Amino acid sequence: MTRTVYYTATSLDGFIATVDHSLDWLLSRENDVDGPMGYDGFITGIGAVAMGATTYLWVREHDPDWLPEQPTWVFTHRELTPPPGADLRFTADDPARVHAAMAEAAGGRDVWVVGGGDLAGQFADRGLLDEVVVAIAPVTLGGGAPLLPRRVELEVRECARNGEFVCVRYGVRRSPAGG
Ligand SMILES: NC(=O)c1ccc[n+]([C@@H]2O[C@H](COP(=O)([O-])OP(=O)(O)OC[C@H]3O[C@@H](n4cnc5c(N)ncnc54)[C@H](OP(=O)(O)O)[C@@H]3O)[C@@H](O)[C@H]2O)c1
Repeated sequence: MTRTVYYTATSLDGFIATVDHSLDWLLSRENDVDGPMGYDGFITGIGAVAMGATTYLWVREHDPDWLPEQPTWVFTHRELTPPPGADLRFTADDPARVHAAMAEAAGGRDVWVVGGGDLAGQFADRGLLDEVVVAIAPVTLGGGAPLLPRRVELEVRECARNGEFVCVRYGVRRSPAGG
């Protein structure tokens, strides 16, 4: 069954980028992509991807050769043009409707919410977020792009050390009302 997973790295104080959208605090650290809860194992289970416009534009600027192989939805109100050949579309549609399309495209694999935090929160608001998986870097940033600016009740399902990171997989607890 398709799960929707917000998989990201974070500072200890809950930021996924600095105030000026730098990831230097993250990319400089030791991490084994084949190791516990590492990227390579994670991405094989992913069938569709969602990200916000800031994240997408950061990737285009800093790592232009990387885009998910999976069908990808980028949330934005801007008029953007997808790179040639990319299985990628821009949307400002309701996240619940987009989620239904992503789940169908995922074909039984999981949906990866890359970020940012508010986009993950929008899925959580609609009861559509199943897991939050974080790799916690040994640093505090004091401010920046927030990890998940909502109250979301979680339960620990798995934890591991990978290089310099402590990795935790949380399940999202649904309220009795289903939210
Ligand atoms: N640490 C990590 O592993 C990690 C992972 C992911 C991202 N990041 C970084 O974290 C930062 C995240 O940036 P961010 O907080 O600004 O979040 P973001 O989700 O990347 O971008 C926010 C933008 O997405 C668009 N958006 C969000 N929800 C929408 C909706 N429902 N409909 C239409 N558009 C919507 C809006 O863009 P418009 O203005 O176009 O409407 C909004 O300004 C970036 O610097 C990124 O590189 C880090």
